[in-house]
Amino acid sequence: MITLGIEGTAHTLGAGVVDSEKKVLSNVIDMFRPQEGGLHPREAANHHSDVVASVICRATEEAGITLGDVDLISFSMGPGLGPCLRVAATAARSLSSRLGVPIIGVNHCIAHIEIGNATTGCDDPVLLYASGGNTQVIAYSEGRYRIFGETQDIGIGNMLDKLGRELGLGFYAGPTIEKLAKGGDKLLNLPYSVKGMDVAFSGIMTAALALRKKGHRLEDIAYSVQETAFSMLTEVTERAMAHICKDEVLLGGGVAQNMRLQDMVRIMAEDRGAEMSVPDRKLCVDNGAMIAWLGNIMYGSGVRMDIKDTAIRQRFRTDEVDVVWR
Ligand code: ATP
Ligand code: FE2
Repeated sequence: MITLGIEGTAHTLGAGVVDSEKKVLSNVIDMFRPQEGGLHPREAANHHSDVVASVICRATEEAGITLGDVDLISFSMGPGLGPCLRVAATAARSLSSRLGVPIIGVNHCIAHIEIGNATTGCDDPVLLYASGGNTQVIAYSEGRYRIFGETQDIGIGNMLDKLGRELGLGFYAGPTIEKLAKGGDKLLNLPYSVKGMDVAFSGIMTAALALRKKGHRLEDIAYSVQETAFSMLTEVTERAMAHICKDEVLLGGGVAQNMRLQDMVRIMAEDRGAEMSVPDRKLCVDNGAMIAWLGNIMYGSGVRMDIKDTAIRQRFRTDEVDVVWR
């Protein structure tokens, strides 16, 4: 069975094609990068509508198929920004009706987990999902993927991006902050904000900006931000693993590409006799292949949707989905 998946929760419009054998046949992404300032949902949605048709065409071409070969359309139903979600959903509905093939709307966060399970060989991990808009610690328990901890304010990537913008590092600052951090050696004091199993990041950003005003080096600020924020994430991930007795940890989301975060989580996992996995970069960031893959397994276990069931869900929670395929 060939599934075409369309992703459009935030910055990225993506289309990917998978078969039922876990093979990713193509995975094309086109990311909206604002000229200045943060992400404006309407501008991102305009970008998505400009590129959606060509991204889908490229995805089918690169997969070596035509639209006529597609057996199932899946799309990211939420969580995400309304205007962006609507572009992906509208494209998916029109394709499904035009081609006369079924449609499945999927939860974006669960797609990160399932593509990780499919491509890294993980089976029942705790997922640390660290992206721009989302920061959650998720694991399967009694029929659902449950959220064991999450951010109480902004996603870690958004914090890094906002901080980067204020510090003049340009947009999509995560990779720049990672590079700068390598030149830092002084651990500056920043608020370590773990509340129960939840984390909060906005205090770190404010404090980091104040440190810059006091004249501290950018390298030391970047280093301290990473050490503090990533330790918080590692701590709640470890506690989730201990609490529900899981010996696998999976990273997902754009921030999971950060080598320092990977090192911290790997060391924590090894200390517990557990294993860490990270999917390929192109499958870690928001992408259509993961949406296709989740659609494929949901359909395979009997999930069916009518067009009328495919309304977008901006606040679609990970734990609202009955995980019938496990
Ligand atoms: P979501 O809808 O899942 O929240 P998104 O569009 O915000 O997704 P992703 O594509 O998963 O996010 O990831 C983008 C984020 O990852 C950005 O905030 C970016 O700064 C961050 N990022 C990318 N590479 C790195 C890195 N090496 N270190 C830290 N952060 C990174
Ligand atoms: Fe994501």
